Amino acid sequence: MELSKFREEFFRKYGNRTDDPVIFFCPGRLNLIGEHTDYNKGFVLPCALNFGTYLLVRKRNDDRLLLNTMNFDFSDSQSTGSIKKNESGQWVNYPLGVISEYLDRGIKPGGMEMLFYGDIPNGAGLSSSASIEMVTAYAVNELFKAGLSIPEMVKLSQHAENTFVGMNCGIMDQFAVGMGEKGKAIFLNCGTLNYDVIPVELRNYQIVISNTNKRRGLTGSKYNERRGECEKAVKYLRSKIHIDHLSQLSINDLHLLDELIPDETVRKRARHVITENNRVLQAVNVLHKGDLINFGKLMNESHDSLRNDYEVTGKELDAIVYEAREIDGTLGSRMTGAGFGGCSVSIVARSRINSFIEKLGKAYTSATGLKAEFYLPTIEDGVRQI
Ligand code: GLA
Repeated sequence: MELSKFREEFFRKYGNRTDDPVIFFCPGRLNLIGEHTDYNKGFVLPCALNFGTYLLVRKRNDDRLLLNTMNFDFSDSQSTGSIKKNESGQWVNYPLGVISEYLDRGIKPGGMEMLFYGDIPNGAGLSSSASIEMVTAYAVNELFKAGLSIPEMVKLSQHAENTFVGMNCGIMDQFAVGMGEKGKAIFLNCGTLNYDVIPVELRNYQIVISNTNKRRGLTGSKYNERRGECEKAVKYLRSKIHIDHLSQLSINDLHLLDELIPDETVRKRARHVITENNRVLQAVNVLHKGDLINFGKLMNESHDSLRNDYEVTGKELDAIVYEAREIDGTLGSRMTGAGFGGCSVSIVARSRINSFIEKLGKAYTSATGLKAEFYLPTIEDGVRQI
Protein backbone atom coordinates (compact mmCIF):
# COMPACT_ATOMS: atom_id res chain seq x y z
CA MET A 1 0.00 0.00 0.00
CA GLU A 2 1.37 3.37 -0.94
CA LEU A 3 1.09 5.98 1.77
CA SER A 4 -0.23 8.53 -0.71
CA LYS A 5 -3.23 6.29 -1.48
CA PHE A 6 -3.77 5.74 2.22
CA ARG A 7 -3.83 9.50 2.81
CA GLU A 8 -6.16 10.02 -0.16
CA GLU A 9 -8.58 7.54 1.38
CA PHE A 10 -8.33 9.32 4.72
CA PHE A 11 -9.29 12.65 3.16
CA ARG A 12 -12.05 11.00 1.12
CA LYS A 13 -13.56 9.59 4.33
CA TYR A 14 -12.99 12.49 6.68
CA GLY A 15 -12.48 15.58 4.47
CA ASN A 16 -10.57 18.77 5.48
CA ARG A 17 -7.26 18.51 3.64
CA THR A 18 -5.73 21.44 5.49
CA ASP A 19 -5.34 19.58 8.75
CA ASP A 20 -2.87 16.70 8.37
CA PRO A 21 -3.34 13.33 10.10
CA VAL A 22 -0.43 11.63 11.90
CA ILE A 23 0.70 8.17 10.87
CA PHE A 24 1.71 5.34 13.19
CA PHE A 25 2.84 1.79 12.48
CA CYS A 26 2.92 -1.35 14.58
CA PRO A 27 4.39 -4.59 13.23
CA GLY A 28 3.05 -8.12 13.49
CA ARG A 29 5.15 -10.68 15.31
CA LEU A 30 6.74 -14.00 14.57
CA ASN A 31 7.52 -16.31 17.44
CA LEU A 32 10.79 -18.13 16.75
CA ILE A 33 10.48 -20.53 19.69
CA GLY A 34 8.71 -20.72 23.07
CA GLU A 35 5.11 -21.59 22.29
CA HIS A 36 2.28 -21.77 24.83
CA THR A 37 4.72 -20.82 27.55
CA ASP A 38 3.77 -17.14 28.00
CA TYR A 39 0.60 -17.73 30.05
CA ASN A 40 2.64 -20.24 32.11
CA LYS A 41 5.02 -17.41 32.96
CA GLY A 42 7.79 -19.04 30.95
CA PHE A 43 10.25 -17.98 28.25
CA VAL A 44 9.50 -16.88 24.67
CA LEU A 45 11.67 -15.71 21.77
CA PRO A 46 9.58 -13.69 19.29
CA CYS A 47 10.53 -10.87 16.94
CA ALA A 48 8.72 -7.98 15.24
CA LEU A 49 8.17 -8.10 11.46
CA ASN A 50 8.28 -5.75 8.51
CA PHE A 51 4.55 -5.99 7.98
CA GLY A 52 1.87 -4.80 10.35
CA THR A 53 -0.86 -2.23 10.94
CA TYR A 54 -0.78 1.42 9.83
CA LEU A 55 -2.95 4.02 11.49
CA LEU A 56 -3.69 7.48 10.14
CA VAL A 57 -5.28 9.52 12.87
CA ARG A 58 -6.40 13.09 13.46
CA LYS A 59 -7.80 14.70 16.61
CA ARG A 60 -11.30 16.20 16.59
CA ASN A 61 -12.66 19.08 18.63
CA ASP A 62 -15.53 16.99 20.01
CA ASP A 63 -15.61 13.52 21.58
CA ARG A 64 -16.62 11.56 18.44
CA LEU A 65 -14.56 8.53 17.63
CA LEU A 66 -14.73 7.55 13.96
CA LEU A 67 -13.21 4.21 12.98
CA ASN A 68 -12.59 2.97 9.45
CA THR A 69 -10.29 0.41 7.88
CA MET A 70 -9.10 -0.33 4.36
CA ASN A 71 -9.37 -4.06 5.14
CA PHE A 72 -13.05 -4.58 5.98
CA ASP A 73 -16.34 -2.92 5.09
CA PHE A 74 -17.36 -2.38 8.69
CA SER A 75 -16.94 1.10 10.19
CA ASP A 76 -18.09 2.58 13.49
CA SER A 77 -18.76 5.87 15.22
CA GLN A 78 -18.93 6.22 18.99
CA SER A 79 -18.47 8.75 21.74
CA THR A 80 -15.23 8.45 23.76
CA GLY A 81 -17.38 9.01 26.86
CA SER A 82 -19.40 5.81 26.47
CA ILE A 83 -17.59 3.11 24.51
CA LYS A 84 -19.63 0.06 23.58
CA LYS A 85 -18.31 -3.29 22.45
CA ASN A 86 -19.48 -4.52 19.07
CA GLU A 87 -21.37 -7.68 19.94
CA SER A 88 -20.86 -9.34 16.56
CA GLY A 89 -17.09 -9.40 17.16
CA GLN A 90 -16.03 -6.78 14.59
CA TRP A 91 -12.40 -5.58 14.29
CA VAL A 92 -13.32 -2.28 15.99
CA ASN A 93 -13.30 -4.08 19.34
CA TYR A 94 -9.48 -4.02 19.34
CA PRO A 95 -9.08 -0.23 19.16
CA LEU A 96 -12.24 0.34 21.22
CA GLY A 97 -10.94 -2.01 23.93
CA VAL A 98 -7.66 -0.09 24.11
CA ILE A 99 -9.35 3.32 24.29
CA SER A 100 -11.67 2.01 26.97
CA GLU A 101 -8.62 0.86 28.97
CA TYR A 102 -7.26 4.42 28.84
CA LEU A 103 -10.61 5.65 30.21
CA ASP A 104 -10.43 3.08 33.02
CA ARG A 105 -7.03 4.54 33.95
CA GLY A 106 -8.54 8.01 34.21
CA ILE A 107 -7.02 9.20 30.91
CA LYS A 108 -9.77 10.57 28.66
CA PRO A 109 -8.79 10.72 24.99
CA GLY A 110 -10.79 13.24 22.94
CA GLY A 111 -12.47 12.48 19.62
CA MET A 112 -10.43 11.05 16.73
CA GLU A 113 -10.76 10.22 13.07
CA MET A 114 -8.96 6.91 12.54
CA LEU A 115 -8.17 4.97 9.40
CA PHE A 116 -6.43 1.62 9.73
CA TYR A 117 -4.71 -0.51 7.13
CA GLY A 118 -3.06 -3.84 7.87
CA ASP A 119 -0.93 -6.09 5.68
CA ILE A 120 -0.70 -8.98 8.13
CA PRO A 121 -2.72 -11.95 6.92
CA ASN A 122 -5.68 -12.29 9.32
CA GLY A 123 -6.07 -15.29 11.56
CA ALA A 124 -2.63 -16.57 10.53
CA GLY A 125 -0.98 -16.49 13.94
CA LEU A 126 1.14 -13.41 13.19
CA SER A 127 -0.55 -11.18 15.76
CA SER A 128 -2.73 -8.90 13.71
CA SER A 129 -4.75 -8.37 16.93
CA ALA A 130 -1.81 -7.27 19.08
CA SER A 131 -0.64 -5.05 16.22
CA ILE A 132 -3.90 -3.11 15.96
CA GLU A 133 -4.12 -2.84 19.75
CA MET A 134 -0.60 -1.52 20.13
CA VAL A 135 -0.82 0.93 17.23
CA THR A 136 -3.93 2.38 18.88
CA ALA A 137 -2.34 2.45 22.34
CA TYR A 138 0.76 4.20 20.99
CA ALA A 139 -1.22 6.76 18.96
CA VAL A 140 -3.49 7.68 21.87
CA ASN A 141 -0.48 7.96 24.15
CA GLU A 142 1.27 10.34 21.73
CA LEU A 143 -1.73 12.42 20.69
CA PHE A 144 -3.10 12.92 24.21
CA LYS A 145 0.25 12.94 26.03
CA ALA A 146 -0.82 10.14 28.35
CA GLY A 147 2.78 9.45 29.41
CA LEU A 148 2.65 5.63 29.39
CA SER A 149 5.81 3.65 28.71
CA ILE A 150 5.73 0.92 26.05
CA PRO A 151 5.65 -1.89 28.66
CA GLU A 152 2.65 -0.13 30.25
CA MET A 153 0.94 0.01 26.86
CA VAL A 154 1.74 -3.70 26.40
CA LYS A 155 -0.08 -4.56 29.62
CA LEU A 156 -2.94 -2.22 28.79
CA SER A 157 -3.38 -3.84 25.37
CA GLN A 158 -3.22 -7.38 26.72
CA HIS A 159 -5.83 -6.43 29.33
CA ALA A 160 -8.06 -4.98 26.58
CA GLU A 161 -7.83 -8.24 24.66
CA ASN A 162 -8.54 -10.35 27.76
CA THR A 163 -11.47 -8.34 29.07
CA PHE A 164 -12.99 -6.25 26.25
CA VAL A 165 -12.37 -8.56 23.27
CA GLY A 166 -12.67 -11.71 25.39
CA MET A 167 -9.56 -13.62 24.20
CA ASN A 168 -7.54 -14.88 27.13
CA CYS A 169 -4.11 -14.46 25.48
CA GLY A 170 -0.74 -14.18 27.25
CA ILE A 171 1.64 -11.19 27.03
CA MET A 172 4.02 -12.33 24.28
CA ASP A 173 2.35 -10.78 21.23
CA GLN A 174 1.84 -7.27 22.59
CA PHE A 175 5.35 -7.31 24.09
CA ALA A 176 6.99 -8.40 20.83
CA VAL A 177 5.23 -5.83 18.65
CA GLY A 178 5.86 -3.11 21.22
CA MET A 179 9.47 -3.80 22.14
CA GLY A 180 10.78 -5.40 18.92
CA GLU A 181 14.20 -4.33 17.58
CA LYS A 182 15.60 -4.53 14.08
CA GLY A 183 17.58 -7.73 13.51
CA LYS A 184 16.96 -8.97 17.06
CA ALA A 185 14.71 -11.45 18.81
CA ILE A 186 13.21 -10.62 22.20
CA PHE A 187 14.09 -13.15 24.88
CA LEU A 188 11.33 -12.50 27.38
CA ASN A 189 10.69 -13.96 30.79
CA CYS A 190 6.89 -13.71 30.89
CA GLY A 191 6.86 -14.10 34.67
CA THR A 192 9.01 -11.06 35.46
CA LEU A 193 8.83 -9.22 32.08
CA ASN A 194 12.63 -8.94 32.19
CA TYR A 195 13.96 -9.26 28.68
CA ASP A 196 17.08 -9.25 26.59
CA VAL A 197 17.54 -8.68 22.85
CA ILE A 198 19.34 -11.44 20.98
CA PRO A 199 20.93 -10.78 17.55
CA VAL A 200 19.52 -13.06 14.84
CA GLU A 201 22.37 -13.34 12.35
CA LEU A 202 21.01 -15.32 9.46
CA ARG A 203 23.98 -14.92 7.09
CA ASN A 204 23.25 -17.29 4.16
CA TYR A 205 19.90 -18.28 5.57
CA GLN A 206 16.48 -16.70 5.49
CA ILE A 207 13.35 -16.94 7.63
CA VAL A 208 10.45 -18.27 5.61
CA ILE A 209 6.88 -18.03 6.88
CA SER A 210 4.53 -20.56 5.30
CA ASN A 211 0.83 -19.85 5.67
CA THR A 212 -1.30 -23.02 5.69
CA ASN A 213 -4.32 -20.87 4.80
CA LYS A 214 -6.21 -22.98 7.25
CA ARG A 215 -8.00 -20.47 9.47
CA ARG A 216 -7.33 -21.04 13.11
CA GLY A 217 -10.75 -22.44 13.88
CA LEU A 218 -11.36 -23.37 17.54
CA THR A 219 -8.46 -21.18 18.62
CA GLY A 220 -10.39 -19.52 21.43
CA SER A 221 -11.96 -22.62 22.93
CA LYS A 222 -8.98 -24.98 22.53
CA TYR A 223 -6.61 -22.26 23.73
CA ASN A 224 -8.61 -21.86 26.92
CA GLU A 225 -8.79 -25.63 27.28
CA ARG A 226 -4.96 -25.81 27.21
CA ARG A 227 -4.70 -23.00 29.75
CA GLY A 228 -7.09 -24.93 31.97
CA GLU A 229 -5.04 -28.11 31.64
CA CYS A 230 -1.88 -26.25 32.70
CA GLU A 231 -3.74 -24.91 35.74
CA LYS A 232 -4.81 -28.46 36.56
CA ALA A 233 -1.20 -29.61 36.35
CA VAL A 234 -0.21 -26.92 38.87
CA LYS A 235 -2.99 -28.10 41.20
CA TYR A 236 -1.78 -31.71 41.08
CA LEU A 237 1.82 -30.65 41.67
CA ARG A 238 0.85 -28.46 44.61
CA SER A 239 -0.14 -31.57 46.54
CA LYS A 240 3.57 -31.96 47.27
CA ILE A 241 5.47 -28.88 46.10
CA HIS A 242 4.92 -25.14 46.45
CA ILE A 243 4.59 -23.64 43.00
CA ASP A 244 2.30 -21.05 41.45
CA HIS A 245 3.03 -21.82 37.82
CA LEU A 246 4.63 -24.53 35.69
CA SER A 247 7.67 -22.47 34.70
CA GLN A 248 8.97 -22.69 38.24
CA LEU A 249 9.97 -26.25 37.34
CA SER A 250 13.11 -26.93 35.34
CA ILE A 251 14.07 -29.78 33.07
CA ASN A 252 15.52 -31.60 36.12
CA ASP A 253 12.06 -31.74 37.68
CA LEU A 254 10.40 -33.72 34.89
CA HIS A 255 10.20 -36.82 37.11
CA LEU A 256 7.77 -34.90 39.36
CA LEU A 257 5.21 -34.96 36.58
CA ASP A 258 5.18 -38.76 36.55
CA GLU A 259 5.05 -38.88 40.31
CA LEU A 260 2.36 -36.29 40.95
CA ILE A 261 0.12 -35.98 37.87
CA PRO A 262 -2.14 -39.03 37.41
CA ASP A 263 -3.95 -37.64 34.33
CA GLU A 264 -1.91 -38.44 31.22
CA THR A 265 -3.19 -35.53 29.13
CA VAL A 266 -2.44 -33.02 31.87
CA ARG A 267 0.98 -34.58 32.35
CA LYS A 268 1.79 -34.19 28.65
CA ARG A 269 0.74 -30.53 28.65
CA ALA A 270 3.04 -29.83 31.60
CA ARG A 271 5.89 -31.71 29.94
CA HIS A 272 5.59 -29.51 26.87
CA VAL A 273 5.78 -26.33 28.92
CA ILE A 274 8.84 -27.44 30.87
CA THR A 275 10.74 -28.83 27.87
CA GLU A 276 9.80 -25.80 25.74
CA ASN A 277 11.17 -23.38 28.35
CA ASN A 278 14.39 -25.37 28.28
CA ARG A 279 14.48 -25.22 24.47
CA VAL A 280 14.18 -21.43 24.59
CA LEU A 281 17.16 -21.23 26.95
CA GLN A 282 19.17 -23.47 24.63
CA ALA A 283 18.01 -21.49 21.59
CA VAL A 284 19.29 -18.25 23.12
CA ASN A 285 22.64 -19.92 23.78
CA VAL A 286 23.06 -21.23 20.26
CA LEU A 287 21.89 -17.95 18.69
CA HIS A 288 24.55 -16.10 20.68
CA LYS A 289 27.10 -18.40 19.05
CA GLY A 290 25.53 -17.92 15.61
CA ASP A 291 24.83 -21.67 15.52
CA LEU A 292 21.82 -21.87 13.21
CA ILE A 293 22.11 -25.63 12.75
CA ASN A 294 21.33 -26.32 16.39
CA PHE A 295 18.77 -23.54 16.40
CA GLY A 296 16.98 -25.41 13.60
CA LYS A 297 17.07 -28.65 15.59
CA LEU A 298 15.47 -26.93 18.56
CA MET A 299 12.73 -25.55 16.28
CA ASN A 300 12.02 -29.10 15.10
CA GLU A 301 11.87 -30.40 18.66
CA SER A 302 9.54 -27.57 19.61
CA HIS A 303 7.09 -28.51 16.86
CA ASP A 304 7.24 -32.19 17.76
CA SER A 305 6.41 -31.36 21.36
CA LEU A 306 3.54 -29.08 20.29
CA ARG A 307 2.25 -31.94 18.19
CA ASN A 308 2.73 -34.88 20.56
CA ASP A 309 2.43 -33.37 24.02
CA TYR A 310 0.50 -30.14 23.61
CA GLU A 311 -1.61 -31.30 20.64
CA VAL A 312 -2.16 -27.91 19.00
CA THR A 313 -0.82 -28.55 15.51
CA GLY A 314 -3.34 -30.42 13.31
CA LYS A 315 -3.11 -31.94 9.86
CA GLU A 316 -2.26 -28.79 7.92
CA LEU A 317 0.52 -27.50 10.19
CA ASP A 318 2.02 -30.98 10.44
CA ALA A 319 1.97 -31.37 6.66
CA ILE A 320 3.64 -28.02 6.02
CA VAL A 321 6.27 -28.53 8.72
CA TYR A 322 7.22 -32.14 8.00
CA GLU A 323 7.29 -31.60 4.22
CA ALA A 324 9.51 -28.53 4.75
CA ARG A 325 12.04 -30.57 6.72
CA GLU A 326 12.45 -32.94 3.77
CA ILE A 327 13.66 -30.14 1.51
CA ASP A 328 17.39 -29.61 1.09
CA GLY A 329 18.62 -26.43 2.70
CA THR A 330 16.01 -26.40 5.52
CA LEU A 331 17.62 -26.17 8.97
CA GLY A 332 14.41 -26.36 10.96
CA SER A 333 10.68 -25.85 10.77
CA ARG A 334 7.90 -25.42 13.33
CA MET A 335 4.42 -24.00 13.78
CA THR A 336 4.28 -20.47 15.19
CA GLY A 337 1.55 -18.81 17.27
CA ALA A 338 -1.40 -20.50 18.92
CA GLY A 339 -1.62 -23.36 16.41
CA PHE A 340 -4.65 -25.21 14.98
CA GLY A 341 -3.85 -23.63 11.60
CA GLY A 342 -2.07 -20.40 10.73
CA CYS A 343 1.63 -20.31 9.87
CA SER A 344 4.88 -22.19 10.22
CA VAL A 345 8.37 -20.69 10.44
CA SER A 346 11.37 -22.29 8.76
CA ILE A 347 15.05 -21.40 8.43
CA VAL A 348 16.11 -22.05 4.84
CA ALA A 349 19.35 -21.56 2.86
CA ARG A 350 18.97 -18.42 0.70
CA SER A 351 20.18 -20.32 -2.36
CA ARG A 352 17.30 -22.80 -1.95
CA ILE A 353 14.41 -20.43 -1.32
CA ASN A 354 12.84 -20.75 -4.77
CA SER A 355 12.94 -24.51 -4.79
CA PHE A 356 11.72 -24.57 -1.16
CA ILE A 357 8.64 -22.54 -2.10
CA GLU A 358 7.96 -24.55 -5.21
CA LYS A 359 8.44 -27.99 -3.65
CA LEU A 360 6.67 -27.22 -0.40
CA GLY A 361 3.78 -25.53 -2.22
CA LYS A 362 3.19 -28.67 -4.30
CA ALA A 363 3.67 -31.17 -1.48
CA TYR A 364 1.37 -29.20 0.82
CA THR A 365 -1.40 -28.99 -1.77
CA SER A 366 -1.23 -32.67 -2.52
CA ALA A 367 -1.35 -33.50 1.21
CA THR A 368 -4.22 -31.16 2.13
CA GLY A 369 -5.91 -29.81 -1.00
CA LEU A 370 -5.11 -26.27 0.26
CA LYS A 371 -2.84 -23.66 -1.30
CA ALA A 372 -0.02 -22.36 0.89
CA GLU A 373 1.37 -18.81 0.76
CA PHE A 374 4.95 -17.85 1.55
CA TYR A 375 6.47 -14.68 3.01
CA LEU A 376 10.14 -13.75 3.39
CA PRO A 377 10.06 -11.37 6.34
CA THR A 378 12.73 -9.20 7.90
CA ILE A 379 13.01 -8.48 11.61
CA GLU A 380 12.24 -4.84 12.36
CA ASP A 381 11.60 -2.33 15.16
CA GLY A 382 8.41 -2.31 17.23
CA VAL A 383 5.58 0.25 17.29
CA ARG A 384 6.45 3.80 16.15
CA GLN A 385 5.36 7.03 14.51
CA ILE A 386 6.39 7.28 10.86
C1 GLA B 1 -1.33 -16.72 20.87
C2 GLA B 1 -1.45 -15.86 22.13
C3 GLA B 1 -0.08 -15.71 22.80
C4 GLA B 1 0.58 -17.07 23.02
C5 GLA B 1 0.56 -17.90 21.73
C6 GLA B 1 1.07 -19.31 21.94
O1 GLA B 1 -0.56 -16.05 19.92
O2 GLA B 1 -1.95 -14.58 21.81
O3 GLA B 1 -0.24 -15.00 24.03
O4 GLA B 1 -0.01 -17.76 24.09
O5 GLA B 1 -0.75 -17.98 21.19
O6 GLA B 1 2.42 -19.31 22.25
